[in-house]
Amino acid sequence: METVLTVRNLSKHYGRIKAVDDLTLEVKKGNIFGILGPNGSGKTTTLGMILDVINPTSGDYLWFGQAPTKDTRKNIGAILEHPIFYPYLTGVQNLKIVCDIKEVPYSRIDEVLLQVGLDERKDTKYKTYSLGMKQRLSIASALLCDPDVMLLDEPTNGLDPQGIAEIRELIINIANSGKTILLASHLLDEVQKVCTHFAVLRRGKLMHVGLVDDVGKGHTTVEVKANHDNLQEVLEKSGMASKVKRELDKHILTMNDGYSPEDINRYLFDNGITAKHLLLKTRSLEQQFLEILAENEGGAQ
Ligand SMILES: Nc1ncnc2c1ncn2[C@@H]1O[C@H](COP(=O)(O)OP(=O)(O)OP(=O)(O)O)[C@@H](O)[C@H]1O
Ligand SMILES: [Mg+2]
Repeated sequence: METVLTVRNLSKHYGRIKAVDDLTLEVKKGNIFGILGPNGSGKTTTLGMILDVINPTSGDYLWFGQAPTKDTRKNIGAILEHPIFYPYLTGVQNLKIVCDIKEVPYSRIDEVLLQVGLDERKDTKYKTYSLGMKQRLSIASALLCDPDVMLLDEPTNGLDPQGIAEIRELIINIANSGKTILLASHLLDEVQKVCTHFAVLRRGKLMHVGLVDDVGKGHTTVEVKANHDNLQEVLEKSGMASKVKRELDKHILTMNDGYSPEDINRYLFDNGITAKHLLLKTRSLEQQFLEILAENEGGAQ
């Protein structure tokens, strides 16, 4: 698969603060790549550097396998923290200004407004827009050049649940139209619902990269309750769990790949044991995220 973005040992230091610290990662075409991290972990700084608005202290990055040029930049639509539009101009008028700057024909305006669902309000003034509409206008503005890549920094910040759901749907639609998306967020739920891949930053350092679909894999646990004197031993002998831990009246099995609660149930039954409680638990992104952030906490930065 084609690599869209390659980040190599990228760092940004502000005096003693390592906003981004030796970051290396790759984003492939079609990915919806989430950069997840708590406040101040370096998400915006990372996006700023790969957009060429913040100078890295060291390291570099490639867009489409090449050192960035003015032309590559045109192929990247971005929404950083504060969009700047003229409050007394309408949506269309604001986008015309963007078209002039980006040298895009006005004919694109109706298309992008329709795409973001703002066509009905296109002729009303920006200052009358709700936060969600303002955000949609930003996305429309970023779509004007029909870029291959979209960078979105906290796209649902400050929106109500319905606004959040609408923007998320819009992001997924944009991705389905063939664009690669890089999205910075501190919301686990957002990344889990929208992204295909995710990276976790902590104090500028990359803590984890992986597939959202893999979250929880290898971390399935099954709780078992049964009346049997040697339950611990029997469960350990099953070969279905890498760990069996006793907790009060139940045993918690960390399952080996490929085994389900059904297998445990059958195994117990074959051994003359009837389970009175069997509960499957998969780890959420939230748990995994907190564990990743807790890793080596307090160690050298
Ligand atoms: N211009 C600057 N001067 C000094 N320090 C800065 C500057 N910009 C960012 N920082 C620091 O760099 C670190 C990373 O900031 P950044 O804005 O990239 O984090 P973030 O992950 O986007 O946070 P948030 O979730 O709050 O948006 C923070 O400690 C921040 O205070
Ligand atoms: Mg930020």
